[in-house]
Amino acid sequence: MSKLSRRDLAKALGGTAAGIAVGTRTGIPAPALPRERRFPEGFVWGCASAAYQSEGATQVDGRGDSNWDVFCRTPGKIKDGASGDPACDAYHRYAEDHQLLKDLGAGAYRISIAWPRIFPEGRGRANQKGVDHYNRVIDDMLEKGIRPYVTMFHWDYPAALPGGWQNRDTAYALADYAGFMASKISDRVKDIMTTNEIGVFTDVAHHEGRHAPGLKLPPAQVNQIRHHGVLAHGLALQAIRAAAKQGTRVGFAECPAIMVPVIETPACIAAARTATREANAPYMTAMMEGKYLDAYLEAEGAAAPKVDSGDMRVIGAPVDFVGINLYTGDYVRAAENERGYELLRALPTSPRMNHDWLVIRPEAGYWAIRHTSDLWRPEAIYVSENGASATDVVEPTHVNDVDRVMYLRNYLTHFQRACAEGYSLKGYFLWCLMDNFEWEHGYSDSVRMGIHRVEFKTQKRTPKLSAEWYKEVIRRNAVV
Ligand code: BGC
Repeated sequence: MSKLSRRDLAKALGGTAAGIAVGTRTGIPAPALPRERRFPEGFVWGCASAAYQSEGATQVDGRGDSNWDVFCRTPGKIKDGASGDPACDAYHRYAEDHQLLKDLGAGAYRISIAWPRIFPEGRGRANQKGVDHYNRVIDDMLEKGIRPYVTMFHWDYPAALPGGWQNRDTAYALADYAGFMASKISDRVKDIMTTNEIGVFTDVAHHEGRHAPGLKLPPAQVNQIRHHGVLAHGLALQAIRAAAKQGTRVGFAECPAIMVPVIETPACIAAARTATREANAPYMTAMMEGKYLDAYLEAEGAAAPKVDSGDMRVIGAPVDFVGINLYTGDYVRAAENERGYELLRALPTSPRMNHDWLVIRPEAGYWAIRHTSDLWRPEAIYVSENGASATDVVEPTHVNDVDRVMYLRNYLTHFQRACAEGYSLKGYFLWCLMDNFEWEHGYSDSVRMGIHRVEFKTQKRTPKLSAEWYKEVIRRNAVV
């Protein structure tokens, strides 16, 4: 192989000879950053978390029991009998956590509000101590230059609500709470998400039984619960808009099934877009189009949801932005069948992070943004979550979570492609700032997801290698 001159090397790496910063000790040139790997000016870099997973302090300041407290007390539901206490004790340590974000150079933090802290009984009298708490949290963030993105419902609702999501009234209760909270915080919080991942708090909780309240109901009831979920989003959107200060933007955070064209031909791309629209028919498609697709209703037949008049208009009211929690995707190719596509299932050997479902599909990052834009043209899109579970190997002074870095870098490469092609992706929230209570897996070492390690006994937070990497991404506003 012929020897490369410094200029050739620079060219090959996408920089110029003059632009090369020579590696300090090794003499190996560090590549000048190719322009095309940068994110747009003003791109929002943040981290995400959720109340029940991080706050702990479930018994303080008048908080009521949540569905998750009850579920965690049920023997056999959560690994090692764990619960949302102590989690990361963020209820008391939020200022320290905001400092971690500041140290990263992040400009935003996505948190959720614990509904049972605000309305311990579900409805009725509000608990001022709960409101005061979130006011302090928001004020501290703003003092540190961090913009709060607030989700009203990330799966923990007051256990006192009769029937939970089986009861249509819960959708109205959520709207009342969300409107109330918006009136308290929208002088400072400008970005509000109604709900997080409707498919999880409906199906996983009421069909698969893995999440609170742990039911395994038949399809007709599950479809009705899904309907209550999307209705809750629509009603909350209305209530927040009615109560919030002008300039508040309202959206949702969904985790749509994203179909990746296995080969980028026009036929496969069209097939993947159709498949994405159909796969999300009960949730995001309904919220973006204000209707249930005929294919969904026909497939469910007598088990299809019962819809009251006016519901779909509420569900489909335009949002100011769409939040996408993007972890994985599925390959699809065009096919000569009735649907026009074929789903190519993950293989037993497909690379995964530590959750079974977390198949590594970085291209889904690009296609999530592109399909969403092509199908529904929302004004703005955020990646409201993206992250990876892994078992940390803890050395005395560091945690080299190289696989998490690999995962994140690859996904960011594809999000960046979407920006470079002009899609309206405005920001990215890494899941998550720190290890926390990972639902039915509790505090299991194998599904830690933070870029900061948390020792749950001492609550000590330590940045992992991925935090160092993310800091560099933010500093350079580029994939590194
Ligand atoms: C949820 C988080 C959860 C993460 C990993 C997301 O779907 O919003 O609460 O921790 O997945 O399971």
